[in-house]
Amino acid sequence: MKIIRLGLALVMAAGLAAACQKSPGAVDAKRLAAAAGNAEWLSYGKDYNEQRFSPLDKVSAANVGELGLAWHAQFDTDRGQEATPLMVDGVLYTSTAWSKVFAFDAKTGKLLWKYDPKVEGAKGFDACCDVVNRGVAIWDGKVFVGTIDGRLVALNAKTGAVAWEQQTTDKSKPYTITGAPRVVKGRVLIGNGGAEYGVRGYISAYDAQTGKLAWRFYTVPNPNGQPDGAASDKVFAEKAAATWSDGDWKKTGGGGTVWDSIVHDPELNLVYIGVGNGNPWNHRIRSGGKGDNLFLSSIVALNADTGEYVWHYQTTPAETWDYTATQHIMLADLNIGGAVRKVLMQAPKNGFFYVIDRANGKLISAKPYTNITWATGVDPATGRPIETANARYAAGPELQVPGPLGAHNWQPMAFNPKTGLVYIPTNIAPFQYTDEKGFAYKAGAWNVAVDFTANATPPDPATLAQLNKMIHGQLLAWDPVAQKAVWTVEHPHFWNAGVLSTAGGLVFQGNAQGEFAAYDAASGKKLWSSPVGNGVIAAPMTYELDGEQYVAIMVGAGGGGQISAPGSLPARPRLPGRLMVYKLGGKAAPPAFPAPPQLPPLDLNQIKSSGDAQHGFALFHQNCQVCHGPNASGGWMPDLKRSPITASAESWKQVVIDGANASRGMASFARFLSPKDAEDIRAYVLSEARTAAAVATPAAPAASQRARAPAAGGGR
Ligand code: HEC
Repeated sequence: MKIIRLGLALVMAAGLAAACQKSPGAVDAKRLAAAAGNAEWLSYGKDYNEQRFSPLDKVSAANVGELGLAWHAQFDTDRGQEATPLMVDGVLYTSTAWSKVFAFDAKTGKLLWKYDPKVEGAKGFDACCDVVNRGVAIWDGKVFVGTIDGRLVALNAKTGAVAWEQQTTDKSKPYTITGAPRVVKGRVLIGNGGAEYGVRGYISAYDAQTGKLAWRFYTVPNPNGQPDGAASDKVFAEKAAATWSDGDWKKTGGGGTVWDSIVHDPELNLVYIGVGNGNPWNHRIRSGGKGDNLFLSSIVALNADTGEYVWHYQTTPAETWDYTATQHIMLADLNIGGAVRKVLMQAPKNGFFYVIDRANGKLISAKPYTNITWATGVDPATGRPIETANARYAAGPELQVPGPLGAHNWQPMAFNPKTGLVYIPTNIAPFQYTDEKGFAYKAGAWNVAVDFTANATPPDPATLAQLNKMIHGQLLAWDPVAQKAVWTVEHPHFWNAGVLSTAGGLVFQGNAQGEFAAYDAASGKKLWSSPVGNGVIAAPMTYELDGEQYVAIMVGAGGGGQISAPGSLPARPRLPGRLMVYKLGGKAAPPAFPAPPQLPPLDLNQIKSSGDAQHGFALFHQNCQVCHGPNASGGWMPDLKRSPITASAESWKQVVIDGANASRGMASFARFLSPKDAEDIRAYVLSEARTAAAVATPAAPAASQRARAPAAGGGR
């Protein structure tokens, strides 16, 4: 009897184990609904609230000094790493640049499987801000990833085998996907990017089992005036289409991509999407300077079942600065004026922190969370910003803060319900907005109708010094009820990393100068830090396994944050991305990166070009600066001023015109440039190399005049 019982118990245990093995990552609605209080990390922002707050407190302010590396993994790409890993059933899933997916044993770091969607390298041209990927979603034994070439791929969570795959975009257009999918009611929600080039934004919902399209919501009207047969048809017919006027949007598609935030409230049965900038950026060119252009730069609430419009709040009406509202949306229940309000919170690029009633979209409050010059406030009655005189740069160039990179970009914020604070990674990065004279739409290229050469022309030295002093980053602790700053940590560089908050009273953040740090949630005091050898932009996450708490972070600079002011970003060799996982008493030694190859300086006396450097200057800033930096400053791309390719007219033409390095993300420019144009750009890059060499020689008299104006590079 005893033996039989034992036998039964064994069979049952075996059955359970088999069930577990059959579908690891068996995440369902019940599990996701309970995710906020658990030790795992089940979706991009941890759970449906997307507060990025973990209840884990084993690592606390008292012992965080003992944090050490438990394990690490190194990836095969040196492009930006933006993903937040997930941890489900003891497996850690993450994605890297070029949309690759990896599954590790979350305790030991053993690689369980990897998946490479094999995106064509030349597609990297369409990624405004690096070939990044912010993460995966998991549901019912499947892991979902959006790829830079617009596919949504479902993978078997146990093996990494492809279960199904859908092309979610028109492949003939410059669409990309960098954002993490979210799963809502058995459907995978995915948006896309491309609004610098010229696409029409939308979000789609696919059945998680079959990959069949369930609904789609376009964020801007159909340029041909026809309905799409989509969930958005009704709201455009009724009101949104009338907010657009004649302009280039009819050629470009208008923009409004949903490239990052997608958040679900199960109780209200709503999905909130953050909508991006217009295309072209310049409202005068896009829509004749007329109309609010719904739903650009808006938060839109959709019915979670049908994708139909419920309400919207436009943060930047008639946007003309690349002020997206795609940034992190988080949900919370806040006590405001004695009543508990169901709110959503966002710190979009435009510099205002919004607290909005998430049931109806009504503004509760909005205050600038950083120094801004384009508006003096938000009118509480209309919810519209009160713009300053030349904010729309109609009367001439306007040097403004924030610039297109935003006062806050995609780097996730975090909330701590105990302190009541939102922790925001902010940028202070000015930009000179200037009309692009003679703008003409070029299919497939950047089409923003804002003159990038204006930012590359140095202002007077006094202004320059003032600007350089201004550029930096902050970790800002913000009280969303009082709408005021409680503490700030100053970062010497801008474009720092996303944030994690824990019940251990800690705020974790990486930064541009290459460290990973923990701060006291109440005071901002730095309690721990560790060098990681490369700039960090991604947000950390945390989980507990077998009684130990782990903190994980993807390491790898990139992601479009470039600026040319000297010292605004640390010069870095291109280093392979890494996943670093820490625990108390972790003893793994962080391995040093191999020394990067030292490029000898170009022999500028020997290298000649017949090109026209002045023409090259304009072409460079129209075509190359978004990746290679204003004034060929380099950033996280190859520094063309030191590249051996620049030394030879023939090699230069092979790369720039013939596409010799297309498989590595440097596409051919033959569509846009003649060989003569390419040589003009080379002549210009050589002139910058000469300037750099002169600056490096202290005796050179012209050097001080040649430092460069700050210019935020690509926006999204
Ligand atoms: C969308 C981003 C992007 C744009 C825009 C871009 N490049 Fe590149 N470029 C890259 C990447 C990525 C590499 C490095 C590829 C590799 O790993 O070999 C590169 C490499 C190069 C190289 C080779 C450097 C070396 O040392 O290996 C040259 C030359 C170059 N680019 C010139 C240009 C010029 C000229 C333009 C403008 C006409 C331009 N690029 C625009 C992304 C870009």
